[in-house]
Amino acid sequence: MRYILGIDIGTTGARVLLLADTGEVISSDSSEYPISIPMPNWAEQHPDDWWQATVTATKACLDKAHAKSNDSIEIEAIGLTGQMHSSVFLDSDGKVLRPAILWCDQRTESQCGQIVDTVGFDQLISYTSNRALAGFTAPKILWLRENEPQVYERVHKVLLAKDYIRYKLTGGFATEVSDASGTLLFDVANRKWSQEMLLALRIPREWLPDCYESTDITGYLSEEAASILGLTGGIPVVGGGGDQAAGAVGNGIVHGGLASCVLGTSGVVFWHSDEHVYDPEGRLHSFCHAVPGKWHLMGVTLSAGGSLRWFRDTLCQQEIKEAGQQGIDVYAAVINKAAGIVPGSEGLLFLPYLSGERTPHANAKARGAFVGLSLRHTRDHMARAVLEGIAMSLRDCLELGEGIGLEPQRINLSGGGARSDMWSQMIADVFGLELIRTGSEEGPAYGAAILAAVGAGIYSSVEEACGKLVFTIDSKMPNPVVREIYRDLYDLYKPLYATLREHFERGAEFVFQHRG
Ligand code: XUL
Repeated sequence: MRYILGIDIGTTGARVLLLADTGEVISSDSSEYPISIPMPNWAEQHPDDWWQATVTATKACLDKAHAKSNDSIEIEAIGLTGQMHSSVFLDSDGKVLRPAILWCDQRTESQCGQIVDTVGFDQLISYTSNRALAGFTAPKILWLRENEPQVYERVHKVLLAKDYIRYKLTGGFATEVSDASGTLLFDVANRKWSQEMLLALRIPREWLPDCYESTDITGYLSEEAASILGLTGGIPVVGGGGDQAAGAVGNGIVHGGLASCVLGTSGVVFWHSDEHVYDPEGRLHSFCHAVPGKWHLMGVTLSAGGSLRWFRDTLCQQEIKEAGQQGIDVYAAVINKAAGIVPGSEGLLFLPYLSGERTPHANAKARGAFVGLSLRHTRDHMARAVLEGIAMSLRDCLELGEGIGLEPQRINLSGGGARSDMWSQMIADVFGLELIRTGSEEGPAYGAAILAAVGAGIYSSVEEACGKLVFTIDSKMPNPVVREIYRDLYDLYKPLYATLREHFERGAEFVFQHRG
């Protein structure tokens, strides 16, 4: 057998898996790290926490593999993936200058405005295929220039999360097209850094790493990293992909007409495209796919599973206790309670904008809301409304795709939320589409390993690898009765953002004036 390692630098932890060329995941392990929220709207992590977690999870993954197999395991390539947009600033000695500013950090709203003023909205779309969003890299660099000039002066390189781990593994600076697409410094149509954007924003090209296709070899495991991880030096480290592109590869979304929905911390609707397509208003992200020469579009609900986690942590002490006593997962306990409530939660609606929103309302000041509460509503109604609100927000993304001619026949569902049959059925009912689930529960790390297997020459293309390694395990059809109820609920949900938009502005001013 031939073996590949996939490493995912997620938002809550690092996940490492060992894949065999038969498609079997021989072993996997994860190690968590904290997020710090030093100010409202901020989100930071320390890149060295990512590295320590990578080391811990890799060693544990290899120990498990050795315990299971008598064969000697020779790893032929390493593939990387991770949270997109999360920016790491290094000095000329390769030292981390400050904590990484994460994808869900919303501090850069005013810098996004400056970018549009400097470049012009239409020019920005023509240079990058995307609009300026608070989580992207370019506005973070401008924020650093304005707010931490003493750090800015010392910047030598700006890296994305997985590319910092690549640097620790190989000693070299590199990225690949799918992750580079989320920097707002990338010419997505032509798959290269945008000279125009770099010039307009006065960002030196040398700060950015060289950019490869996702299946290219970007460097080799150094002897130093190999001895820390318990591996041998010289293993090729392949480009990999941003977590969404790599996750899509892991689910076989590598041909025209295929689309997926990911229910993770963020929620994503993702479409493969053989050509470069973009939304002229920039409401959908238009990025390079991890499949060489292909693209994808994507709509992102920032707080999908994140809303459910907030609900669990804030309001579900009883379920946490009960789940502990029964030895079941707390999310499963909360979702079971929601299942006892009728579709539509008796008129209670939830807007999931707990950390602002990207799609379809690019607004860092948007906030979450329960609307329609009555004396009749219980916490179980609120749980169901949270699940439904997340599904409605993803339906918003799906509609934007329909508006530019993307009309998939079915949707692949993945991410933590796809483990729940009840929530998966709800997504099928809200979307009005057949849902399929594939066998891999390993998420983006599985896709990163597939990309590495192609880079190592085990398969001749990503399409061929997916054909051999990705299988559909089940599907769900929408329930026609519930689908009608959800059509009506969506009509109630859709105008709420516009109704509340002015309130969100005033609310943000209020919080600023009366901050503690
Ligand atoms: C994609 C995005 C998130 C993060 C974290 O644009 O911001 O999906 O990659 O998962």
